[in-house]
Amino acid sequence: MSALQFTQTDRTRRIGDVERAQILADPGFGRYYTDFMAHASWTRENGWGGSEVIPFGPLSLSPATAVLHYGQEIFEGLKAFRHADGSVWTFRPERNAERLQRSARRLALPELSVEDFLESLKAVVAADEPWVPEATSEESLYLRPFMFASEEFLGVRTSHAVDYYVIASPAGPYFPRGVQPLVVWITDEYARAGAGGTGAAKCGGNYASSLLGKDEAAEHGADEVLFLDSETHTSIDELSGMNVFAITRDGRLLTPSLTGSILEGVTRESILRLAEDRGLEVVEQKLVMSELLEQLGSGEITEMFACGTAAVINPIGEFRAHGGTWSVGDGGSGEITLSLRQELTDIQYGRIPDRHGWLTRL
Ligand code: COI
Repeated sequence: MSALQFTQTDRTRRIGDVERAQILADPGFGRYYTDFMAHASWTRENGWGGSEVIPFGPLSLSPATAVLHYGQEIFEGLKAFRHADGSVWTFRPERNAERLQRSARRLALPELSVEDFLESLKAVVAADEPWVPEATSEESLYLRPFMFASEEFLGVRTSHAVDYYVIASPAGPYFPRGVQPLVVWITDEYARAGAGGTGAAKCGGNYASSLLGKDEAAEHGADEVLFLDSETHTSIDELSGMNVFAITRDGRLLTPSLTGSILEGVTRESILRLAEDRGLEVVEQKLVMSELLEQLGSGEITEMFACGTAAVINPIGEFRAHGGTWSVGDGGSGEITLSLRQELTDIQYGRIPDRHGWLTRL
């Protein structure tokens, strides 16, 4: 039972039916926002309260708000999927709720209960139901819960006031080219996160630290950047916002083990389970980049892909670095990669049975 009830008093829509239909015809990713958002606030004295659903719109913040200076902020990403019967579902939201709690502990923010987190998602989707794309498309309503230090204070300490919001954005493919093999740049200059740092937390700072690497990737004609571990610069961590997998010729599925500097992706965890169900040998271990490139050259690794809530599963076709270029297989989309993607999305859109009980009705 959730303690917070997200009440809605103003039901005035920001965007009319015609404009909404135009947006839903080609939403892209992260470009458009719905009519409403959920909000709750926390103070050290009173805990969580003030939960409401309000019109989506600008926030008014003091220039001295702590988050603007010290980056005390965390977020989540999930999707709402419409099924053929019109009902709306989300995927493993309790895993996101638990990760938000872990991120909150690391960033010294207050935890939100799993029930309150679920209630906030339900409240936004109920208010924004017309924004959930039709089941005929592979589109969804991306939900972005986030929490930040909202106290007006410039001293460096944990904030005594925090705000939590859930905004929603209709989403098509994350990459502008759609589900096409990615070109990935291996940066030898930047790291995303270090030992004892915030790499396993979903906090804005990790993404900020990835941006120069992304720019470097773009300068080399690549779609994404791959970060190696910060200590030795030899083993694979992750991309700017996605986990990485490799598939071997003899049917093993490899992914970097969770070292504390890698995000514990919900999609990552789900893929490991689906792969096990298929009888693939699942290996979570340190993946040394130079060995992996050799295995690409010898054909021992046949497929690679990136995954995350936003990107789902996206094939990797090529790596680039200062030392050369390496093709993954024939550079196209791998068969197992695409079939894992199909299975995952079939579960999410209710096209096949949800055998693991991963879906929650919103
Ligand atoms: C997600 O996959 O939901 C993320 O938060 C990552 C970001 C690249 C959009």
